[in-house]
Amino acid sequence: MTTTSSRPQPATDPTWWRGAVIYQVYPRSFADGNGDGTGDLAGLRARLPYLRDLGVDAIWVTPWYRSPLADGGYDVADYRAIDPAFGTLEEAEALVGEALEHGIRTIVDIVPNHVSEQHAWFRAALAAGPGSPERARFWFRPGKGEHGELMPTQWVSDFQGSTWTRTTDPDGNPGEWYLHLFAPAQPDLNWSHPDVRAEFEDVLRFWLDRGVAGIRIDSAALLIKDDALPEYTEHPGPGEHPHVDRDEIHDVYRAWRALADAYPGTRILVGEVWLADRARFAQYLRPDEMHTAFNFDFMARPWQAKALRESIDMTLAAHGPVGAPATWVLSNHDVTRPVTRYGREDSSFAFARKRFGTPTDLELGHRRARAAALLTAALPGALYVYQGDELGLPEVEDLPLEVLQDPMHFRSLGVDPGRDGCRVPLPWSGSAAPFGFSPPGATRPPWLPQPACWADLTVERQSADPGSMLRLYRELLALRRTEPALGDGSLTWLETPDDVLAFARGDVVCVVNLGDDPADLPPHTDVLLTSGPLVAGRLPRDTAAWLRGPGGPLTPTP
Ligand code: GLC
Repeated sequence: MTTTSSRPQPATDPTWWRGAVIYQVYPRSFADGNGDGTGDLAGLRARLPYLRDLGVDAIWVTPWYRSPLADGGYDVADYRAIDPAFGTLEEAEALVGEALEHGIRTIVDIVPNHVSEQHAWFRAALAAGPGSPERARFWFRPGKGEHGELMPTQWVSDFQGSTWTRTTDPDGNPGEWYLHLFAPAQPDLNWSHPDVRAEFEDVLRFWLDRGVAGIRIDSAALLIKDDALPEYTEHPGPGEHPHVDRDEIHDVYRAWRALADAYPGTRILVGEVWLADRARFAQYLRPDEMHTAFNFDFMARPWQAKALRESIDMTLAAHGPVGAPATWVLSNHDVTRPVTRYGREDSSFAFARKRFGTPTDLELGHRRARAAALLTAALPGALYVYQGDELGLPEVEDLPLEVLQDPMHFRSLGVDPGRDGCRVPLPWSGSAAPFGFSPPGATRPPWLPQPACWADLTVERQSADPGSMLRLYRELLALRRTEPALGDGSLTWLETPDDVLAFARGDVVCVVNLGDDPADLPPHTDVLLTSGPLVAGRLPRDTAAWLRGPGGPLTPTP
């Protein structure tokens, strides 16, 4: 299926990112070209036509750099080399070009907060010893206590547990400690050090020179630390937390924006900014900083009309003053798949609550995830789709314990299932694993086992089923392209019962029923798309529709 667009073509439109549909590729689990059970660039290149037909404007590829994969590649050993498990730099360059031929831009993922313990700088720092210039690029500190046996601070890791690991000196004695906000295999860089700033600007240029359309910035609010390394205070004011959202961080992104703006075409910066304070969040999106950032507030909300509407309103209100478009994200490689999350009694998302054995109604979750797809694709701004959500894949919650790899699982001492369940290799075709993920004659099974029931969820099977999640995604993304009112812009809420959300985008109306009872459709001349069948012309529970509005009072004021 090919789609025609009534909007300017991506190649020539400097505002392409404001309403783009960006597909997140987790390369390890997307498609395996060489049959070793791990997804790779050959697999991704071969599947570009799938992404074109899905109707995405860009792909964001999570880290593909040389890495020991202690955190799925978010532990980078060399930012200028592709991990041999994924392919070569030449293949990455070829991918960027080939994707563009399909009208798809490529966004790479840069991890500036920390490096891998295998990174040349960290190895040099360990070898050089205390007080060395090599150690100054990181956060090495002597321990507290009589023998330095106590951690320099009590800061808590994003992966639970402590944030400091003690080194061993060449003579075998315990040495200094180093800071890692994530796993010990991910030492934090010192962003007060000029080498660090210069190095990352160079890494950005390295990838922008290769034609990438943007940079996803990992853990973007964490880079700067209070040099004094104070303990946490109970209620830190804005910018007062010792390692989250420090004011000085904005200088980094201003420099990056200037660097990106010097390239032809619009090269974008997309921040992974987890901040509850919407006003502080919006500061990252000022016109001389990042272009956009992931809207995690919406993603974490439960499936409730009031909660979602509140998030939408807060999001649009926060973005308005800085002129940045919002983004809409239902999931990513870190969180529970929507089909599973929306099938739970508590359908909000919080890392701290992840537990084995949470009761889940997948049929309910599936219905809601379909409705959520229509809702998010109709909201003003850019849309992110995590690979596999277009297939309605559930979280795989019964992976054998011995295959789990995520440090979040291990650092929770096995309490948190971790994030492997949303990273299981995609099912493409056939009726048995590896479901076309690996080519025939593959030498190894997929790096995480796929459930046998995914035979019903393959791309092949869903392509042939007009009622499938994949067909819904294809349809809605195609419509989104041809409806000029969708994507960037504003919305007008329509009056509805409490459990129903309805808003107009120009002459397109989106309505979602989150209540128990069927709802009347708002005035319309045509039904463009629904996430499930209407019943006697009414919208059943957990169902969404896109309608052609009658115009007039529904048309938002420009
Ligand atoms: C981000 C990534 C996550 C990773 C973490 C540390 O949150 O999305 O996958 O574990 O950063 O780099």
